[in-house]
Amino acid sequence: MSSIRPAAIIVLAAGEGTRMKSATPKVLHEICGRSLVGHAVTAARGLDPEELVVVVGHGRERVTAHLADIDSGVRAVVQEQQLGTAHAVATALAALAADGVTPAGTVIVTCGDIPMQTAATLGSLAGTHAADGNAVTMLTMEVPDPTGYGRVVRGADGAVVEVVEHRDATAEQLAIREANSGILAFDGRLLASALARVGSDNDQGEQYLPDVLRILREDGHRVGACVAPDHRELVGINNRVQLAQARRLLNDRLLEEAMLAGVTVVDPATTWLDVTVTYEPDAVLLPGTQLLGATHVAADAEVGPGSRLRDTVVGSGAVVDNTVADGAHVGAGAKVGPYTYLRPGTVLGQESKAGAFVEMKNSAIGEGTKVPHLSYIGDATIGDHTNIGAATVFVNYDGEEKHHSTVGSYCRTGADNMFVAPVTVGDGAYTAAGSVITRDVPPGSLGVARGQQRNVDGWVARRRPESAPARAAEAALAAMERKPGEA
Ligand code: UD1
Ligand code: CA
Repeated sequence: MSSIRPAAIIVLAAGEGTRMKSATPKVLHEICGRSLVGHAVTAARGLDPEELVVVVGHGRERVTAHLADIDSGVRAVVQEQQLGTAHAVATALAALAADGVTPAGTVIVTCGDIPMQTAATLGSLAGTHAADGNAVTMLTMEVPDPTGYGRVVRGADGAVVEVVEHRDATAEQLAIREANSGILAFDGRLLASALARVGSDNDQGEQYLPDVLRILREDGHRVGACVAPDHRELVGINNRVQLAQARRLLNDRLLEEAMLAGVTVVDPATTWLDVTVTYEPDAVLLPGTQLLGATHVAADAEVGPGSRLRDTVVGSGAVVDNTVADGAHVGAGAKVGPYTYLRPGTVLGQESKAGAFVEMKNSAIGEGTKVPHLSYIGDATIGDHTNIGAATVFVNYDGEEKHHSTVGSYCRTGADNMFVAPVTVGDGAYTAAGSVITRDVPPGSLGVARGQQRNVDGWVARRRPESAPARAAEAALAAMERKPGEA
């Protein structure tokens, strides 16, 4: 990447995005865990500009609040009326000037609806711009279908003459496949005066930023255009078809990075990553897996098939099969799933297990502890090497408040237990199957809390005479040489 530090980067994001047909401002739509404008800001930030300005308009409250969330150094400038891209840049410069800032170096203008742009691309544009000594350099792209884009009109000598928007283009110009990417670098000293001369004599009656090329050229300045190596990186999002296409492309890029870094991705077509996901070599992602937010997958861990993990850490060698997890920490070598739901605050110790149809929330289970089947563990701390019986519920909610329970290490709790919080089971204790544990169980004790069994002999023969159960019972008793009622 070039070492040129831009004086300012201006991100245009004031447009309504009508074609999205959405109540959400266009630039707040997300792909791969980041808003469209967030992608543009991240790329811009990579060049460490002296000023980073985002021009906002439609949905300005939401967009401005979002920008403050993701990057406190961004200056949001309001463009009251969307009079065109040139007007948007002029508005940004006026806001900077009002604060005494007049960028004299390179000013890069980019759009908030180009999510695949990278710092490397912006940097190489800035590098070309400086090396060629241009007054303006437009990043262009060769697109198979240039519909909607501004066309780059070059003269016989190959130099750029002007840019014509799709709706203003002649049939001949429409055939041009080189388009304005929407990303340009300017000499900051020439920009404001050129913008002041941009008219609005076009089909939309808007002030078009690409007109600056013609104006600066007519002033006798050097005007350049460089073609980006891969047009897919510069796809602009105007509707939800393009949004989905960009998501697919960015996901492919993220998967490729992961695979080149040593992650096995069995089915790239059904595996989705957010830009914020991290991993280690020899992690394995099985089909139908979504890794979101700050999720981390350590070496030799296997996630999927069919898992969706958000802000979840998976330790080395752990297996997370058909699981939904949010804000969980899965220890090294732990086994999770299939069909397991780990909610925020779940911490699974090393080599532990949260098995089929287990839900856990705000709970920690220790090293080697197993919760193998059909259980709800909420607001509990469980020690090491304990086994929790099938169909156990930690009854953590009394209808008003949540309460915490503790089970020690080396415990064996019976199947179908209820632990009514707050309650403590000591180390090495057992509980009997079917118990409702409401009082503490001391270390090493057996807690039994269930009704005594009573058998009413001969009940079926008396109350369901001649029925199939009665006949089956009679036959069984005969084989034991007994009569009904004679247990
Ligand atoms: C624009 C370019 C076109 C280029 C294409 C690349 C112009 C006139 N056209 O067309 O040459 O091929 O991008 O994607 O520049 N915006 C504002 N204020 C405004 C108008 C627009 O902030 O008054 C913002 C929009 O929110 C958007 C960006 O500028 O982020 C581009 O505007 P948009 O309306 O999407 O322009 P395109 O028709 O895509
Ligand atoms: Ca656009």
